[in-house]
Amino acid sequence: MSMAKQRRVAIVGTGSYLPERVLTNADLEKIVDTTDEWIRTRTGILERRLARGDEVTSDMAAAAASRALESAGIAPTEVDLILVATITPDMPFPSTACYVQDKIGATNAFCMDVSAACSGFIYAMESARAHILAGGVKTALVIGAEKLSSVMDWEDRATCVLFGDGAGAVVLRESTDGRGILSSFMGSDGSLSHLLNLPGGGSRYPASEQTLKDRLHCIKMTGNEVFKHAVRCMCDAGNRALDRCGLTEDDVRWIVPHQANLRIIQAIASRLGGSIERFIVNLDKVGNVSGASIPLALDEAVRDGRVKPGDKVLLVAFGGGFTWGAMLVEM
Ligand code: UT7
Repeated sequence: MSMAKQRRVAIVGTGSYLPERVLTNADLEKIVDTTDEWIRTRTGILERRLARGDEVTSDMAAAAASRALESAGIAPTEVDLILVATITPDMPFPSTACYVQDKIGATNAFCMDVSAACSGFIYAMESARAHILAGGVKTALVIGAEKLSSVMDWEDRATCVLFGDGAGAVVLRESTDGRGILSSFMGSDGSLSHLLNLPGGGSRYPASEQTLKDRLHCIKMTGNEVFKHAVRCMCDAGNRALDRCGLTEDDVRWIVPHQANLRIIQAIASRLGGSIERFIVNLDKVGNVSGASIPLALDEAVRDGRVKPGDKVLLVAFGGGFTWGAMLVEM
């Protein structure tokens, strides 16, 4: 009896986009009571990018998507599904994915957003993979895109120094050579939602003069609590994804973690037993770009030649919800 060949979904193209304007730690010293030294030593962030006022999430998403399609050699009309992971959609509805469809001319795609905060990109990859393996979708565009500057409280030094704007994208198709997504693990814990959220503008606190006054339309985070859970959950997810395909840390060439804090990444490196040299880190230049952080870092590493075809790459994420996940990909 012949073994059925395992069907896999592969990344066939990557792309990203960063807005031009740079906001340095020195710039932030003029806005809130902070120092370059504090930001650098507590987070590893040196600068982040800020979108123009008239530049919205779908503009950045469309730019990243076009670059990913170009690198895959695939036309927009060949795309069957667009998923956008974002916590800063252009509007509460329609989905940002629908705006992206229109901007890139992907007229044959069906489109929706994925809400899983900083884990959104991995969740969206997992969803796109399932659609492809189920047979209804041949080509999927998975995008992480954020304009976090639009939900910053520029008077809260504990959050406004952390985040940035940008977008990253991948094109997924069924693998023809066995490479692709080898395994994954996803988790959520809604009981800890109070530690990281954006309370205003939904059905709980609809926009009002009071919600504006209470600054409820901005990100709220209990940073040091989130920190501990982030390390624990990303390590656990990484190990479980590896277990699921019978591989170990030593089989992994690169780890692309969510870029929230260099100290979190260092803690994961020491717990997973890997060297920090194997981690792709770009938060020094872009800060925390939530759902866009992993595809931005991945695209940078593909384009500068660090990540090569055949490399096994472990993606790990953690975010509000809480949500977390890991995905092992053979590029
Ligand atoms: O992306 C989704 C997941 N997010 C994360 O994973 C973020 C996880 N959390 C973190 O990265 C860190 O907790 C932060 C970078 C947010 C904060 O670092 P921390 O070492 O946990 O600091 P802390 O919140 O415990 O605050 C320590 C001190 C406080 O002062 P006191 O109370 O000790 O006097 C803060 O008021 O640092 C103060 N502080 C600042 N000082 C200068 C907080 N923000 C700043 C600031 N500049 N920007």
